[in-house]
Amino acid sequence: MFDELEKINAKPKPFEFYTAAELWTDEHTSAQMLQFHLNESLDLSSRNHAFINRSVEWIISRFNIGPDKSVADFGCGPGLYTTRLAKTGADVTGIDFSPRSIEYAKTTAAEQNLHITYINQNYLEFETDKRFDLIIMIFCDFCALSPQQRTLLLNKYRTFLKPGGVLLMDVHSLNIFNEKEESATYELNQLNGFWSADKYYGFVNSFKGTSKNSNSTMPMPRFYPVTVVPGFCFPHF
Ligand SMILES: C[S@@+](CC[C@H](N)C(=O)[O-])C[C@H]1O[C@@H](n2cnc3c(N)ncnc32)[C@H](O)[C@@H]1O
Repeated sequence: MFDELEKINAKPKPFEFYTAAELWTDEHTSAQMLQFHLNESLDLSSRNHAFINRSVEWIISRFNIGPDKSVADFGCGPGLYTTRLAKTGADVTGIDFSPRSIEYAKTTAAEQNLHITYINQNYLEFETDKRFDLIIMIFCDFCALSPQQRTLLLNKYRTFLKPGGVLLMDVHSLNIFNEKEESATYELNQLNGFWSADKYYGFVNSFKGTSKNSNSTMPMPRFYPVTVVPGFCFPHF
């Protein structure tokens, strides 16, 4: 028991764990995530829907999105951006490894008579001959990736973009990092049963760390809180 608690509370090395698939594709947590995505007023899983509407309006006008444009959304979730972008007549592709979210996105597209290509796959393994005018990756997903995964994905983006194509993604700023505090808490059924349908204790440890970016002389701080529930460990960004 003591050893287990020590393990749970130990500070991991930066990006030591990559358990995104367990978080997003697990039968129980993916259902909770979908509820968060679809809750119009929450900024969890997806941003609130008023903000998404404003963002998509901006994306359409800034990048001139319309019938002659092709767009790929990496980590598209249930299609909150793809659905809106496809309404312009653009050729839209969404990639996500959550079967539940992709299923929801496909159903929405069918209901709204929209032609959207959805691919249920890990985007780190995604390959295509298609070339895009715009690639988007939204809600700071890039920050959850290790430096090696980021390099891999950026190389893919370079290949997948048409000449003159654009990559649009949001990332955490240093201000957000600086505002974060280290903390350690535990709670019965932490996050109202988000992690399991059974009773559980959720341990939440937030650590701050710095790592050197090999391409830069600047120390690159990273924030990586870790949520641990029995048999399950998820490092956020
Ligand atoms: C924070 S959510 C954002 C969803 C969407 N971009 C939005 O803002 O509404 C991250 C999404 O990326 C997906 N995802 C995370 N890592 C992935 C990976 N390696 N391959 C494919 N999808 C991934 C998750 O399933 C989830 O739908």
